[in-house]
Amino acid sequence: MKVESDFLVIGSGLAGLSFAIQAAKHGKVVIVTKQEVKESATNYAQGGIASVCSEDDTFDAHIQDTIVAGAGVCHEDVVKMVVEEGPTVIKNLVDWGVMFTTSGNSYHLTREGGHSQRRIYHTDDLTGREIERALVAAAKADPNIEIYEHHAAIDLITESKICKKNLGTNRCFGAHVLDNQNNVVRTFISKITLLATGGAGKVYLYTCNPDVVTGDGVAMAYRAGASIANMEFMQFHPTTLYHPQAKSFLISEAVRGEGAILRRRDGTPFMEFYHNLKDLAPRDIVARAIDNEMKTHGDDCVYLDITHKDPKFIKKRFPNIYETCLKFNLDMTKEPLPVVPATHYLCGGVVSDKNGETDIKNLYAIGEVAFTGLHGANRLASNSLLEAAVFAGRAYRHAVEELNNSDFVSPVIPDWDSGTATDSDEMVVVSQNWDEIRRCMWNYVGIVRSDKRLARAMSRVKLIQEEIVEYYWDFKVTSDLIELRNIATVAELIIMSAQMRKESRGLHFNIDYPGRDDLHCQKDTIVRKQF
Ligand code: SIN
Repeated sequence: MKVESDFLVIGSGLAGLSFAIQAAKHGKVVIVTKQEVKESATNYAQGGIASVCSEDDTFDAHIQDTIVAGAGVCHEDVVKMVVEEGPTVIKNLVDWGVMFTTSGNSYHLTREGGHSQRRIYHTDDLTGREIERALVAAAKADPNIEIYEHHAAIDLITESKICKKNLGTNRCFGAHVLDNQNNVVRTFISKITLLATGGAGKVYLYTCNPDVVTGDGVAMAYRAGASIANMEFMQFHPTTLYHPQAKSFLISEAVRGEGAILRRRDGTPFMEFYHNLKDLAPRDIVARAIDNEMKTHGDDCVYLDITHKDPKFIKKRFPNIYETCLKFNLDMTKEPLPVVPATHYLCGGVVSDKNGETDIKNLYAIGEVAFTGLHGANRLASNSLLEAAVFAGRAYRHAVEELNNSDFVSPVIPDWDSGTATDSDEMVVVSQNWDEIRRCMWNYVGIVRSDKRLARAMSRVKLIQEEIVEYYWDFKVTSDLIELRNIATVAELIIMSAQMRKESRGLHFNIDYPGRDDLHCQKDTIVRKQF
């Protein structure tokens, strides 16, 4: 079966939905998403969305904070553009029905690590859930938007793939997509294709990302020949709950923004030994400090203490965190919470320009899947929802212009050919490889890296990839197999990029090159598949 549209949106978080809602005024939009439409990283975002609003704040201050966190490799023109478009996208979100927390007659603004001002709009500690609620409702109400849930994109359909040769320029015509519930592969043909698939936290053993975050967009774009940048900069969130049943539940940085202190097991506060901003230092510094504390003292976790604040304030400001911790018999108003770092956000991704367009014609990438130059070597907290919303507006405007000004004559697009593939009788191969990659990435390509660890990781991932390729062509495609192939590709890209960066900067720390080398390394790491 073929499904045709003007705009194909892959992914249903803030980036994909806000693009879809705007694009639907100009043509038919189809959204494909792996699970239920709301199941996206956006839905789990706690902190909020940063944008200058108060009289005490300025665009320059937000720009400066972003650049300082980014450790010398932010694209300053992009930072300026995104920060200055912040107020417009906040207004759009409010117009679409998002209800941010207020205080008196204005919005309540919170603070997180690296921010010199309170400038983060939030909805209690469930900001993403509120944004997702409002945007899903707006998308579902639009007759020009069709949503295909439980549909996992397998690969992009590009000109060079159809013609089976490497053309000078390449164009995208849509994607082959697995309908998970009916086990059939459908062909989605579109004039414009948008990747809004989010990040790649599941490439690592411990992550606070939801299960859907398996690097699909980066892997598909790489296989199609797009440029990929800065994959070595995987951000670890410093504070996820340390509890066997908690699945690395996020304890928002806003908890430190409201005064919480990180302590050793014996109660000693330790961030003052690492940075003058103490507990509100940029996230890479806090995560590395915790890693060092745990290794130095042989502890399994550190402790986040907000017990000095009024319990009523804590329960009102952090209702979700408070209730979730209580389920694990932890009362944050009375006792410090055990916390550890876990992967949270991919700062690299598919290279896209100021309009969100990739180097494959008619293919756009926005949100966490994209590399725009905003985050540099370390994303400033709550800049990600901002980036997604700003680029959704820019990409939609550019895509509509393309739609109006270009001829879209597409070649004959073949349906998916599963050849002689049969149903797999050994799903254990998938689960074994899945586990091995994530453990290997955690142990060898984590917060602190070395040349030897990276080389070990690369040789293991390559072996696993050979097995996956063999398995991939022998057996019918399943959603588990699609995700396994994608996490293996992304793992390889992260290791490859980490090996290329011969210094330590932001989120990439290599003990063999412990210093920052601005002379040779103050640039992006770009990789592209050789055909
Ligand atoms: C958090 O709530 O700590 C996450 C915010 C972010 O990563 O932007």
